[in-house]
Amino acid sequence: MGFMIASSVPEWLTFAKVFLRHPRDVSSVLPTRKAIAKVLADRIAEKQPQVVIEYGPATGRLSREILSSGKLASGSSLVLIEKTSEFIEYLRATLHDPLVSIAHGSAVDVLDIIKQRGCGKADYIFSGIPLTLMAPEVANAIVANTHAALKDDGVFVQYAFRRNVEPILHRYFPSVRSDSQAYNLPPLTVYEARKHS
Ligand SMILES: C[S@@+](CC[C@H](N)C(=O)[O-])C[C@H]1O[C@@H](n2cnc3c(N)ncnc32)[C@H](O)[C@@H]1O
Repeated sequence: MGFMIASSVPEWLTFAKVFLRHPRDVSSVLPTRKAIAKVLADRIAEKQPQVVIEYGPATGRLSREILSSGKLASGSSLVLIEKTSEFIEYLRATLHDPLVSIAHGSAVDVLDIIKQRGCGKADYIFSGIPLTLMAPEVANAIVANTHAALKDDGVFVQYAFRRNVEPILHRYFPSVRSDSQAYNLPPLTVYEARKHS
């Protein structure tokens, strides 16, 4: 059944409704706060055309912040990979930008998704997907494929509330740094994983 996008329904309510339908996949009742989305988007260095991928954009809070940061030069790509069909419908109805391409699928298929789009490997991959709530073999495959989908100097930025994602990142990435955004409630930890220290 289709999920109607009514312009009169606030974004947070759409998000909360989708959470109630898919609590395990969505894992958070509300979208990422704008201040947090900004802290995340600020990690992107200004470079000439670059490839940025986001796993689990939901209603696109972080995606919009990345676009409005002005860090993506023309010719860049922002590839959004979202598993939940209601969010795909919302993104297709509300997010129109020539740099954006929206893929309905799982982060585990990131390599096929970038191959189909011919955009090449990524400079940054952002993810708020709930790695620690997934079957371990799926979470492992996502992190392994993320490693393969990044350029040599690419960065995987994973953010998580209350959960320690470091062990799974360390399985594939030799360098993992984390910092806590304690002012956010619940506190948010942002992990940056790199192929080299
Ligand atoms: C905590 S929400 C992310 C919030 C969002 N980034 C924001 O800015 O508000 C987690 C998202 O990950 C998506 N998701 C869960 N598993 C996924 C997977 N394997 N691949 C892609 N998206 C996934 C969910 O549908 C949901 O949109």
